[in-house]
Amino acid sequence: MTNLAYTDAVKAATAPAWNLLKDQYDETYWQTVAPYIAEINRLKKEKNAVVLAHNYMTPDIFHGIADIVGDSLALAREAEKTKADMIIQCGVHFMAETSKILCMDKKVLIPDMKAGCSLAESITAADMRLLRETYPGVPIASYVNTSAEVKAESDVCVTSGNATKIINAMEEDTILMVPDQYLAAYTQTQTKKKILSWKGSCMVHVRFTAEEITAMRVKYPGVVVIAHPECPPDVIAASDFAGSTQQMVDFIDKDKPAKVMLITECSMSDNLAAINPGMELVRPCQLCPHMKKITLPKIYECLLNETGEVLVDPAIADRARKPIQRMLDLSK
Ligand code: 13P
Ligand code: SF4
Repeated sequence: MTNLAYTDAVKAATAPAWNLLKDQYDETYWQTVAPYIAEINRLKKEKNAVVLAHNYMTPDIFHGIADIVGDSLALAREAEKTKADMIIQCGVHFMAETSKILCMDKKVLIPDMKAGCSLAESITAADMRLLRETYPGVPIASYVNTSAEVKAESDVCVTSGNATKIINAMEEDTILMVPDQYLAAYTQTQTKKKILSWKGSCMVHVRFTAEEITAMRVKYPGVVVIAHPECPPDVIAASDFAGSTQQMVDFIDKDKPAKVMLITECSMSDNLAAINPGMELVRPCQLCPHMKKITLPKIYECLLNETGEVLVDPAIADRARKPIQRMLDLSK
């Protein structure tokens, strides 16, 4: 039987994560999660499993058990080359599907099958076929935040980190980007090509406003504002830089701003605060309810019992792999 008690051995094994997170977590809370961290890390070794964690995972996951952290692009690249037998995808369902499509021979598990995405839900394969009929000859670039069935109908995939690069690398001058109207609008500001778009949006990033940024600039003079490209255009226009979650990390590593406001999901700031103690983080927090479905107890159950296996029909996977692979090749 597994022991999930907070012992001296658990305390010692989880000390590095606690040292990073002690300003964010209460010690009593830590004593309840540390046994999960220790046990998950033990099980990973036993089962040759790798934890791929998105930047929006809570700090206990991000700093406690993740083997690889990053944005959607980084996680897809890692899935493509991992030597592990099993992938535990700590993120949302489309990310787990992307991993599965890239390594069909591996077991890909997600701790909560209901961790979806408002963007992925906004378009279906039938919508894609209708778009093909409506815009004959126009290539369709799908955001990775889509289902395997939608990817299977696409010419190429993009992420928030490489959309402009991929669009510019395509031969055609007019490209249809689905499903995020705001990523499409942002990409349009970065390219001479004509971008058509769908009407999807991220339920998290759509909640930020330009007025909020203006007010924060008054309250926190000198703050550097970094927005995710899923934000509405006026929010991006009111910011100093726009980029994927990994590009946010890279920007901070390079520029080392003293005061930063990230216009994105809450945990992103929490994770960066832990490793940048000297940096002031202004946090206009918006939670993604899907990302927050992934918790340490669920990860533990999933890894222990190998539940939550993500399966993709091999015929769909073969078709969906082509646009993903094209993206990975073009974004190298
Ligand atoms: P990134 O690829 O920038 O991490 O974005 C994924 C996502 O879901 C943002 O909401
Ligand atoms: Fe989807 Fe938005 Fe959540 Fe990202 S933050 S997973 S785009 S709903």
